[in-house]
Amino acid sequence: MCAQRNAVVPFPDRDDERTGVITTICMNEDLIARPTSGASAGELAHQLRETRAFTALLTEDLSARQLMGPMLPIVNPVLWEVGHVGWFHEYWTLRHAHGDAPLLDRADLLWNSSTVAHERRWDLDLPDRDGVWRYMGDVLERQLERLAGGINSRASYFYELSIRHEDMHVEALAYTRQTLGYSAPENLGRPAVHGAGDWPGDVEIPGGAWSLGSSPSDGFVFDNEKWEHKVTIAPFRIARSPVTNAEFAAFVEDGGYRSAEFWCPAGRVWRERAGAERPVHWLPKQGGSWMWRRCDTPAPLSPHAPVAFVNWYEAQAWCRWAKRRLPTEAEWEAAALGEPGADRSRLADKKRLWPWGGASATPDHANIGFAFDGPLDVAECSVGDSTFGCRQMIGNVWEWTASDFVPFAGFAADPYEDYSQPWFHTRKVLRGGSFATSARIARPGYRNFFTPERNDVIAGFRTRAL
Ligand SMILES: [Fe+2]
Repeated sequence: MCAQRNAVVPFPDRDDERTGVITTICMNEDLIARPTSGASAGELAHQLRETRAFTALLTEDLSARQLMGPMLPIVNPVLWEVGHVGWFHEYWTLRHAHGDAPLLDRADLLWNSSTVAHERRWDLDLPDRDGVWRYMGDVLERQLERLAGGINSRASYFYELSIRHEDMHVEALAYTRQTLGYSAPENLGRPAVHGAGDWPGDVEIPGGAWSLGSSPSDGFVFDNEKWEHKVTIAPFRIARSPVTNAEFAAFVEDGGYRSAEFWCPAGRVWRERAGAERPVHWLPKQGGSWMWRRCDTPAPLSPHAPVAFVNWYEAQAWCRWAKRRLPTEAEWEAAALGEPGADRSRLADKKRLWPWGGASATPDHANIGFAFDGPLDVAECSVGDSTFGCRQMIGNVWEWTASDFVPFAGFAADPYEDYSQPWFHTRKVLRGGSFATSARIARPGYRNFFTPERNDVIAGFRTRAL
């Protein structure tokens, strides 16, 4: 995750060893401040294997040249990225949680994303493909040996952290392949067929008090989600679905990219520097139809799939053109997880686990975890509708919100100190996950964050009425 957010940040110091009575006090505080999902050792072992299988599917077919790739600010060399994932597991589980000695003497010098500058990652004396995968395998084997002996809550936290870290890199590897024009990975989700169509219109969300953020009962959460707190929301109307390719195409065809009035000053600077005239992967319109480059292949643009690979400036410009706006993250949460109160005029003091209720996500609810190999039409996944009738709040594409990425009151960094705090006030919040996001990360409370010019992320947007 760190690797995709940006390049150089200081790495957190390891926690000091604790002894005696202090240990007992701190352990209790750990359990309160850093709850886990409650996954058993066996379940954690399964999750480690599961996310590793995705890493393998996304990298094993790449040539030696593709494993390094071009030096770009928004991608890592894939060979480096895979080793970094293994190193992160080793650092936080085997070394930090269990106190083991390093497996490789120079691993910190190669794969510590906080001290190895981004541009240096192409010039390191990395092991070759076999060497990197051998290291990955050694780390995993030792993790599984440890888990076979059971696990306590403190160590569980670090396994859950490192599993989610690999989940994030899995998604990053997926969009890196799109960015670099590599072939679409095979055997990664059912083909996303189209035909379900659009899902137009708005729904009403009553106003009231909303508990923004996550609570200890949500299990493993990141530091920037802590803790839920009351905010006041005015009644509003929000779209049933994200903006579609057809809806975005109308903006492009109306000259939206060339009309300064629709762009904020920073967006105007981005558009002029990038020379953008349409979303980054769209191809010039031919024969009356829009096409796009899907990985390395031109493909028809599905009109009723959500627009994807657009940045926050493009989302904002579309909103100005359409006389709409992005929801705040509190509004997004209320639309996704809220329920009407008894008289339906105010939000109930209740928050769902998922938009559809408490059941675990299936492909009928949400296109996440590579259920499909790309975004579905926005009319799909009706089983996953929120109480208010919003569809696909989870999965398909991340949704940009109007909100700046800022800490909630009382923020305190978790042991991986640089996960959130270096990035506050410079990023925008995205919610909901994409087809490439694991269910562990696509929780509604998860706050993703990227700078507003990033159009390589699998992100679209949903709008609300002014
Ligand atoms: Fe990372």
